[in-house]
Amino acid sequence: MEKPQAVLFDAYGTLFDVYSVGLLAEQLFPGQGQALGVLWRDKQIEYTRLVTASNDGIHYRPFWELTRAGLRYACKRLALDLTPEREERLMNQYRHLSAFPENREVLKALRDKGIVTGILSNGDPAMLAVAVRSAGLEGLLDHVLSVDGIRKYKTHPDAYQLGVQATGLAPRQIGFVSCNGWDALAATWYGYRTLWVNRYQLPFEELGTQPERTGSSLRDVLSFF
Ligand code: LAC
Repeated sequence: MEKPQAVLFDAYGTLFDVYSVGLLAEQLFPGQGQALGVLWRDKQIEYTRLVTASNDGIHYRPFWELTRAGLRYACKRLALDLTPEREERLMNQYRHLSAFPENREVLKALRDKGIVTGILSNGDPAMLAVAVRSAGLEGLLDHVLSVDGIRKYKTHPDAYQLGVQATGLAPRQIGFVSCNGWDALAATWYGYRTLWVNRYQLPFEELGTQPERTGSSLRDVLSFF
């Protein structure tokens, strides 16, 4: 099979560690940090689907706002006292999520092979810009693509199509890497060559389709070449 000519990465959960907020969450709410981290993430993603699937997208709000809404919901659900100060601290932490350590070397290895690199994310441009800068990934990415311009979140096919439009390549010429099983699945349905990075030893989605490859770190993307 032809090797991909471009590789696009999901951002949150894939390049940036969404559970790195857990440490601060644990400090603020002892014994509940991990539960808050998981519920916050799940709610954030649920909201992206809710606004994309309902009423022709008129309820779209940028990912930053849905992230805040998800935090508020998760705290209410867990009966945690989210004061305005705690909310700002947690949101600020989200803005500066830790990057996974292998990011830079993998992006550099791809660039050295002449592969086009990019991010294709639900994150809004301002969030992505800060995250990319904090992780020192500027200069290693040809494209930073946000769904914000089309106001439709993944897994809408128009969101995945942004990668085709930006690179001028066909889906089969593009590798797509995500740690989120649902994202790897929908990208496979869209037609991308996919790698699911299973960082947390989870089962893959039970909907019949499998990603082209499964790995345990971003380094496994090099197996395409
Ligand atoms: C993203 C979220 C889904 O970056 O992780 O698109």
